[in-house]
Amino acid sequence: MSTQAISLLVSLVLMAAIAAIFAAAARSAGRPGAVIPSERSRTGLIYGLLGVGVVVTLASLIPWPHTVTSHPEPDATVNVSGAMWYWDIDRTTLPLGVPVVFNAHTIDVNHGFGVTDSSGRMLFQTQVMPGYVNQVQYIFKRPGTYHVVCLEYCGVAHFAMTSEFTVK
Ligand code: CUA
Repeated sequence: MSTQAISLLVSLVLMAAIAAIFAAAARSAGRPGAVIPSERSRTGLIYGLLGVGVVVTLASLIPWPHTVTSHPEPDATVNVSGAMWYWDIDRTTLPLGVPVVFNAHTIDVNHGFGVTDSSGRMLFQTQVMPGYVNQVQYIFKRPGTYHVVCLEYCGVAHFAMTSEFTVK
């Protein structure tokens, strides 16, 4: 199951639980002689929610798959510079099947460095911000042409801020 599917499932379960609590409260509200939930079941609920919170927090600490985890090969790093409204990428060909590290920065305003495959499917993205170099690592599994887009509105020619590179 994908991370997104798990997130959706957890969200739906929690929303259903909250809705059930509201429904129970609404049902018992205003009823003469309504039974107040016992102290024990409330304590159980609090500990249950605490347990869920701990599990969700720990699960969210799993490293992001595109985090730079190792020292890349010297020939597998690429420097990307964003500017209004173009990408300056210091290589046009990248290696296949090894971790490629993108060092992404900007010379003017915030941009969003996003890479898609030839069908337009987004593979990864990172923000580029003035004064920072953001690193993102990716292993290309198919040779071909990849497209670079800007994912942060950065002015009138934002839509034209595209580029491409080849993987082989
Ligand atoms: Cu750069 Cu939008």
